[in-house]
Amino acid sequence: MRIDVVTLFPELVAGPLGTSIIGRAAQAGTVEYRVHDLREHGLGRHRSVDDYPYGGGAGMVMRPEPLFDALEPLRAAGAHVVLLDPAGERLTDALARELATIPHLALVCGRYEGIDERIRTLVDREVSIGDYVLTGGELPALVLLDAVVRLVPGVIAEASHKGDSFASGLLEHPQYTRPERFRDLEVPPVLLSGNHGEVDRWRRRESLRRTLERRPDLLDEAPLDDADRRVLEELRSGEA
Ligand code: ADE
Repeated sequence: MRIDVVTLFPELVAGPLGTSIIGRAAQAGTVEYRVHDLREHGLGRHRSVDDYPYGGGAGMVMRPEPLFDALEPLRAAGAHVVLLDPAGERLTDALARELATIPHLALVCGRYEGIDERIRTLVDREVSIGDYVLTGGELPALVLLDAVVRLVPGVIAEASHKGDSFASGLLEHPQYTRPERFRDLEVPPVLLSGNHGEVDRWRRRESLRRTLERRPDLLDEAPLDDADRRVLEELRSGEA
């Protein structure tokens, strides 16, 4: 997979792309990252990339020319162009999984108070990471990239994202590691029992419990079987 990031602040995205799982995916050749400095496409002696809004108002607007110069070759190379924008479609686990199947993504980071509307003609989709406004699209681009890259086959063991919160439509069950007893906090005995059937049932129950307590809205969409529904009834009636 190839991911291009188009930004006015390449230094802001460079660090995370070289670090941890995201960095290792590049070292292993599974994913290739290319960061493009929009300033290189800036206009005039000052390499200007923004200007005052027509019609007046506060703030500056990113001009179309630098972004067109940066994006046209990427589109010609087959990139699916994603603009990070608070007005975009909300990033979800399902969207991350869909984007992880696309061989070439170009992530466009907006800055300042906005971008010239004509830039959207080069964009295949717009994505928001949540209902809050950041100073630019760089951190959202990194959030999207991280969520996508970990799902690319070979980046992490598939088993580790099969049980992710949301992948099953439910929140993830609690996890424990050594020691068995820390201060006065103990690991649930079932996890030490070696009985895989019991462990699976416990995990499913705790997943359902956590989802019911924290995100009951997810239960409307989650694929549930009869056993799940019985567990939920018990949990709701306070029996478990
Ligand atoms: N740019 C600024 N805020 C953003 C957000 N919440 N999501 C995506 N891009 C953004």
